[in-house]
Amino acid sequence: MRVLITGHRGYIGAVMAPLLQRAGHQVSGCDSDLYSRCTYDAAGPIVPIPSLKKDVRDLTRSDLQGFDACVHLAALSNDPLSDLNPAVTYEINHRGSVRLAALAKEAGIGRFILASSCSNYGATGEDMVDETETLCPVTAYGQSKVWAERDIAELADERFFPTYLRPATAYGVSPRLRLDIVLNNLVACAVATGRISLLSDGTPWRPIIHIQDISRAFLAVLSASPDKVADQAFNVGRNDENYQIIEIAEAVAKVVPGCKLEVASGAGPDKRSYRVSFEKIARDVPNFHPTWDLHSGARQLYESFVAAGLSQGDFTGSRYFRTSQIKELLTAGVLDPSLRHTAATGGLPEQRSAA
Ligand SMILES: NC(=O)c1ccc[n+]([C@@H]2O[C@H](COP(=O)([O-])OP(=O)(O)OC[C@H]3O[C@@H](n4cnc5c(N)ncnc54)[C@H](O)[C@@H]3O)[C@@H](O)[C@H]2O)c1
Repeated sequence: MRVLITGHRGYIGAVMAPLLQRAGHQVSGCDSDLYSRCTYDAAGPIVPIPSLKKDVRDLTRSDLQGFDACVHLAALSNDPLSDLNPAVTYEINHRGSVRLAALAKEAGIGRFILASSCSNYGATGEDMVDETETLCPVTAYGQSKVWAERDIAELADERFFPTYLRPATAYGVSPRLRLDIVLNNLVACAVATGRISLLSDGTPWRPIIHIQDISRAFLAVLSASPDKVADQAFNVGRNDENYQIIEIAEAVAKVVPGCKLEVASGAGPDKRSYRVSFEKIARDVPNFHPTWDLHSGARQLYESFVAAGLSQGDFTGSRYFRTSQIKELLTAGVLDPSLRHTAATGGLPEQRSAA
C-alpha cells in the first residue's frame, strides 16, 4: 500500500515509518519538523523516506494524490503544550485534521487513520471505560481530538474509511525521544538525578503502551477489513497495562538501581485519570499483537539512557520536552505564533549530542 504518514519525524512517527516500510508498505512522510533540534542520537538515525517538509494545514489535494492510505500523526501532542495556545491547538489538531481528511477523500485515498488519544476520556476515575463511554476531555488537547473524530466521521462513506485510534500514553526509545510522558519521564529522572519525583500523589490511573506496539496497531488497521474498522474508534493498548502512577514509579525504582522514590509534599491528584478497556481492538483487529509491558519498557529506557550518558542537563533542558522546545522556538522567532517556521534561525544552535 502507498501510505502517507504525517508527523513522521516525531516521537511515534520516527519509529512507525520504518516499521511500516519493513512490513512492505511504500511509505512517504509530511512533517513541518518542529523538533528538528531534538534528535536523540543514541536511538540511531531517523530512517530517510520520501517526504514533504510542510505544515499539514497548507497541504493541497495534489500533495495527497497517489496514496492509498493516510496515517495522520501530526499534531500538538500533549496536554501542557495544548494549554500554551488552545486556539492553535484547535487549528492544527481539530480543523487541520478535518481539512486533511476531506482533501484525502477528494484525492481518492480510501483509508485514513487518525491518531486520537485515550486523553479523550479525561477524568473517569476507577471504572474501566470502553469506546462507548461519553468523552469528557479536560484539556484543549483532548477536546481537539474529540472534535476531530466527530467531524471526520461525517466524511465516512462506502469509499472513505476513517478509523480513530486512541493510544494509551506512549513510552519507549525513539530517535525523536520525548521525556514529557510518564514512563520515559520517570526513568530519565531516576537515571539523571538518582531520584524519582512524583508531582501528583500517584493515585491517577493511566494506561501505557510502547511506541512499537502503537505502530503495530496502525499497521494492523491498514490491513484490517473495512467492515471491521471503517468509522470506528479503538482504544490502543492492553487491559493489563492500566496502572496507577505510583505503580509505574515503583516499577521504575526496581529497574534503576539505588534510586529514591519521592512524592512531592502536598501533591494532590492529577485531574486526568482513566482506566481503559482494550477488548474491542483485541476482538476486531486480531492481527494486532502488542509485545511490550511496563517492565520490559522501563528496562529498554534505562539501558538506553545509561548507554547514552543521559545527564541532569538533558533532563532539565528543552530538547526532550515539547512545551519547553516550542516556547524556546517562539522566543527565538524561529516559529511565528501560528507555529509555522519563519526564515529566522534565532541563532539557536543545533541540539545534537550523545543523549
Ligand atoms: N505520545 C503519546 O503518548 C501519544 C498518545 C496518544 C496519542 N498520541 C498522538 O500520536 C501523534 C504523534 O504523537 P507524538 O508523541 O509522536 O508527537 P510529537 O510531538 O513527537 O510529533 C508530532 C510531529 O508532528 C509534527 N507536526 C506538528 N504540527 C504539525 C503541523 N501543523 N504540520 C506538520 N507537521 C506537524 C511535528 O513536527 C512532529 O514531528 C499525535 O497525534 C498525538 O496526539 C500520542
